[in-house]
Amino acid sequence: MHRPLTATAEATSNIALVKYWGKRDLALNLPRTGSISVTLDSLTTRTTVRFDDGLEADRIEFEGNHSARGTARIVRFLDLLRAQAETDLHAHVETQNNFPTAAGLASSASGFAALAVACDAALGLGLSDSELSILARRGSGSAARSIFGGYAEMRAGEEADGSDAYAVPIADPEHLPLTLLVAVTARGEKSIGSTEGMRRTETTSPFFEGWTRQVPKDLAAMRLAIRDADLEQVGVLAETNCLRMHAVALGAHPPLLYWNPTTVAAMQAVKELRGQGRGVWFTIDAGPQVKAICAPEDASHVARHLRAVPGVIEVLQAVPGPGARVVSEIPS
Ligand code: DP6
Repeated sequence: MHRPLTATAEATSNIALVKYWGKRDLALNLPRTGSISVTLDSLTTRTTVRFDDGLEADRIEFEGNHSARGTARIVRFLDLLRAQAETDLHAHVETQNNFPTAAGLASSASGFAALAVACDAALGLGLSDSELSILARRGSGSAARSIFGGYAEMRAGEEADGSDAYAVPIADPEHLPLTLLVAVTARGEKSIGSTEGMRRTETTSPFFEGWTRQVPKDLAAMRLAIRDADLEQVGVLAETNCLRMHAVALGAHPPLLYWNPTTVAAMQAVKELRGQGRGVWFTIDAGPQVKAICAPEDASHVARHLRAVPGVIEVLQAVPGPGARVVSEIPS
């Protein structure tokens, strides 16, 4: 069969409103609990993959550089694809982010979602969205959610093989308009990555069982808040859930403290704005950046305040956007 063996795909980052923090299976990368996120319109990864019988090994290029960083993880991911497609072809993977990776913003979600979609198209696998989500999950848990646009829920699933651990769309991007403002508080900060952070939390934090008991309740409340397009409730729940995630991580040994003084100052600025009657809430992932959530009409006011926080380097802006997609397929 004559198939395109090359394809380009784009995917954007997503921000978890109820966080994924813990795994029930390391090898299959199965989350211990579900999570809910919103996929953004920017913070985009564009990936071109070409399976080629002229290659003797996989070639991974990141922003034009052959870097060793993350290569093993990508090669392992390509091995999964080769097994599924019953091929032994090596691949050339070229990836670009349209956001400053040095800013320490998570790129694994957009990265593995784009790679999953590009590989599926290149190899002509014809995977369904759920299958793409399962595939992306093997690369990075949060990537399973970036397959879908708007609001998505990752299901923890119960099956040992992970066949029911995939994301499902729960609302379109237009259903609940919001703006996400990312206050960048450090560049190139070497924090403990999510995978290691989760492992340490699960194995050493005495609060981990409490976290896993709480998440299903946070998920149920968040589902309703999104259904009702209730931004205030979404914001309150997202901020509370984020602080619970950081609390369980702080309880690990050695403790996982992802914040710097500017992170805390930006959190305080959000609280101050709220004290002045603005609808704005924060969430923070496994790094020092503060992500503020507000109504689109409040975005410029909130952005101005965040920029004025001493130590904030820049403020990036995004709104809910589309899921991962193929942008070109060139038949070989
Ligand atoms: C704090 O998806 O990066 O951003 O599956 O080990 O690659 P791996 O972890 P990853 O973890 C994301 C953690 C988080 C919360 C979230 O996005 O849900």
